[in-house]
Amino acid sequence: MSHDEYEDPLHAARAHAMDWLDSLPERRIQPELAIEAVKDRLGRDLPVAGDDATRVVHHLAEAVEPGLIAMQSPRFYGFVIGGTYPAALAADWLVSAWDQNAGSRQATPGVVAAEELAGDWLLSLLGLPAEAGVGFSTGATTANLSGLLAARSAVLRRLGWDVERDGLAGGPPITFLAGDSVHSSILSAGQLAGLGRPRTVGADPQGRISLPGLDAALAAATGPVVVALQAGDVHSGCFDDFASAIPLARAAGAWVHVDGAFGLWAGASPALRHLVEGYELADSWATDAHKTLNVPYDCGVAIVRDPSDMLAALGTQAAYLPVRAGVLEPFDRAVELSRRARGVPVWAALRALGRDGVAGLVDGLVAAARGLAAGFTAIPGLQVVNDVVFTQVCLAAVDDATTTALGDWLRADSTAWPSNSTWQGRQVVRFSVSNRGTDAAQVARTVDAVARAAAALGIS
Ligand SMILES: Cc1ncc(COP(=O)(O)O)c(C=O)c1O
Repeated sequence: MSHDEYEDPLHAARAHAMDWLDSLPERRIQPELAIEAVKDRLGRDLPVAGDDATRVVHHLAEAVEPGLIAMQSPRFYGFVIGGTYPAALAADWLVSAWDQNAGSRQATPGVVAAEELAGDWLLSLLGLPAEAGVGFSTGATTANLSGLLAARSAVLRRLGWDVERDGLAGGPPITFLAGDSVHSSILSAGQLAGLGRPRTVGADPQGRISLPGLDAALAAATGPVVVALQAGDVHSGCFDDFASAIPLARAAGAWVHVDGAFGLWAGASPALRHLVEGYELADSWATDAHKTLNVPYDCGVAIVRDPSDMLAALGTQAAYLPVRAGVLEPFDRAVELSRRARGVPVWAALRALGRDGVAGLVDGLVAAARGLAAGFTAIPGLQVVNDVVFTQVCLAAVDDATTTALGDWLRADSTAWPSNSTWQGRQVVRFSVSNRGTDAAQVARTVDAVARAAAALGIS
């Protein structure tokens, strides 16, 4: 291992990375090549002989780039995808260069110190209990899984059942409840945690869990109960009424988990904090840093009020691992034993932004969503169909076929990239504002693209 060995490949990677980043504001968002064409460019056969590292980097970048979608474009609105802050990206490169297995605080104090501070800062920013356990996961799906694993462990332990030792079979059945608009990741996490699909208790037209429905389901439940609530519906952006739902659920002895993949960040903004009022009363929370905080993939955050519940559900121990010294190890706070130090870019983003910067980021995303909604509403023949309370805007034309065509037209034009979806029984073109660069100018370009689409399709 020598300096020279790394110098040229890293320089090559840096040059390609800069070309990519420089191209983002103006490049077409849609990829130019499909998978098979990219495989052809990469070369399908594993060569017998190897190649020079720098040539490999050039070849990789040149072959793959035409197949990339410009997810970091400030006019990318598909799924829920954040961009990348420079400090976070650079920190992520350091994480790769340091190549630490961040599982153990004793083995690698440097990166774990940064991650633990990032966790403390997140709790403080979001107004969640300072003593809660924080674990970094691959995303909100695995953060939801961590929360549900802690939940099942705690509710069964209260009844004298040790699920870690004995498994679920033969134990008291858990009633798992959620609103009708529950995100698919809660379904996945429920499956993985052995809770199965949640029993849905109803929701209002925006997707907020039905309180009478929840009340009735809690009253009907006979054994342990886990309730999944939501901060930020993927279509409407709405928030469950935590201040009412959580006391209701806790009075019935239920564990409350909050999926806030992007919506939890409302808690970091004094102007938006009312949206999550009362969420601090829950038992566990999940969010993503790779969405709203704009750190590179992959980075989710699992938070559990009582760290001992996290330890019971996720903790591990083996003769060759460091003996836990009173404080949870990173491998006690995540489903993985070994993992990259993905919390370090979170530290860097938070350090670069500061408390005000995070609030400004979240406020800016919401302002952009409102700007899109106002612009779209002024286009004849189009309708914003959700109440824009956060970062999500759903747009519809007069009928489903025209709405679908609108989304298809926009992605083909590629100035802006929303996704098509179905919401409340109708087709919608769904805009999720999650990129730090989506400012008033980008909003204006997006509205202009939608107006051109409407004209081209004869909508207006
Ligand atoms: C509300 C909600 N929960 C969970 C997730 C899953 O997050 P991830 O893709 O990071 O696993 C998403 C993703 O968009 C989401 O919107």
